[in-house]
Amino acid sequence: MLIDSFGRVLGDLRISVTDRCNFRCLYCLPETEEAANFYRSKFDPARNPNPAPSRSLLRSWKPRNELLSFEEIERVTRTFVALGIRKVRLTGGEPLLRNDLPRLVERLASIPGIQDLAMTTNGFHFARHARDLRKAGLRRVSFSLDSLDPANFRRMTGRDGLQEVLQSIALARDLGFDPVKVNAVVIRDLNHHEVEDLAAFALRENLSLRFIEFMPLDSGRSWLKDLVVPGREILARLRARFDLVPAQPSHASETARRWRFRQPIQDAGPSTGTAQVPIPSPNPGLDDTHVTSPGAEIGIIAPVTEPFCGHCNRIRLTADGQIRTCLFSVIEHDLKARLRSGVTDPDIVTWLHHVVLGKEERHHIGEAGFEQPERTMSCIGG
Ligand code: GTP
Ligand code: 5AD
Ligand code: SF4
Repeated sequence: MLIDSFGRVLGDLRISVTDRCNFRCLYCLPETEEAANFYRSKFDPARNPNPAPSRSLLRSWKPRNELLSFEEIERVTRTFVALGIRKVRLTGGEPLLRNDLPRLVERLASIPGIQDLAMTTNGFHFARHARDLRKAGLRRVSFSLDSLDPANFRRMTGRDGLQEVLQSIALARDLGFDPVKVNAVVIRDLNHHEVEDLAAFALRENLSLRFIEFMPLDSGRSWLKDLVVPGREILARLRARFDLVPAQPSHASETARRWRFRQPIQDAGPSTGTAQVPIPSPNPGLDDTHVTSPGAEIGIIAPVTEPFCGHCNRIRLTADGQIRTCLFSVIEHDLKARLRSGVTDPDIVTWLHHVVLGKEERHHIGEAGFEQPERTMSCIGG
């Protein structure tokens, strides 16, 4: 087993398959003029010691030969599974920009011992690949969806793509991906007024919708504490509108605190004031009586104001073959060099045990001296 120096047993491997992305989310790859203007308008040197926000740092995509091949990813995953990893999540950048992704899924799904194979995607290209992914053995998907208002969606992601993402989410559910999760990063004065509408969407569509606090992992290094909407504030807003009951945590390392709905379905419609897009088919299983919707739930992921590092069981592999023991690691461990210099599997095992002993106890967001990692969320993948 992989056990770190704080006694945490690692069970969750997150594999980034590409650093490329077709979106420019304001909290991740803020490379639009609109994103730069938003940050500039929020910057107040009296309250934020960081330098004034700038356009994103110059960045180039990794060349193809620097990415791990599918053979290399499979080999590494087999080694991790032999060491007790049970959950594998594919991430990016946007993982569907990697050619032939279903072929990788097929390879990974056939590894005995993996109990859970999932993917995080922005959803834009999902519909095109969904059936192949499902056939290849992908069980569940998480989508990013921060807004239900087309104009705000564009502001947040830098792209027009709301309809495509909504169609992808509906398709994932129809194809039997289960659960279908939706991630919304909440940013003050940008989409925090939409949390009720997003929750109503989850209820109507029978989805698990998780609200995530904005973390300092953006490529522009423009994160400001004032933009973080604390999880407890999001929850208070939701509880004022919905009858929420706490759900049992399914395991200690869960990032989200989850809540289920108990309320009459006619209250679940969108509130006024926000431009709406038509949402596909209402859930026929729900009626006008008080129900606990079987699948719909809300999750609050609050890494900034209520860190969950004490139970962290995650380890990450970047697309270019570096091991990261924390989202906020400032050092990486070069697995690719080892793989390409002909190490044996037992050597990798010995090395991984050593690497894991250096896993960080926790992050230090908001503390004096906090150092934002060089690698940003667009390369780590969440
Ligand atoms: P499942 O329970 O398998 O669905 O995974 P999860 O709850 O970890 O969800 P997911 O992988 O979709 O992660 C959701 C979001 O939580 C990510 O996009 C990150 O923003 C945040 N997150 C995930 N893992 C970590 C972590 O280890 N540390 C911190 N600080 N945030 C994390
Ligand atoms: N803070 C919090 N979550 C983030 N994500 C990306 N960047 C950030 C950030 N700065 C999440 C998004 C996306 C997933 C890949 O990572 O929700 O779904
Ligand atoms: Fe784990 Fe690091 Fe995230 Fe804390 S910040 S939960 S240690 S990855």
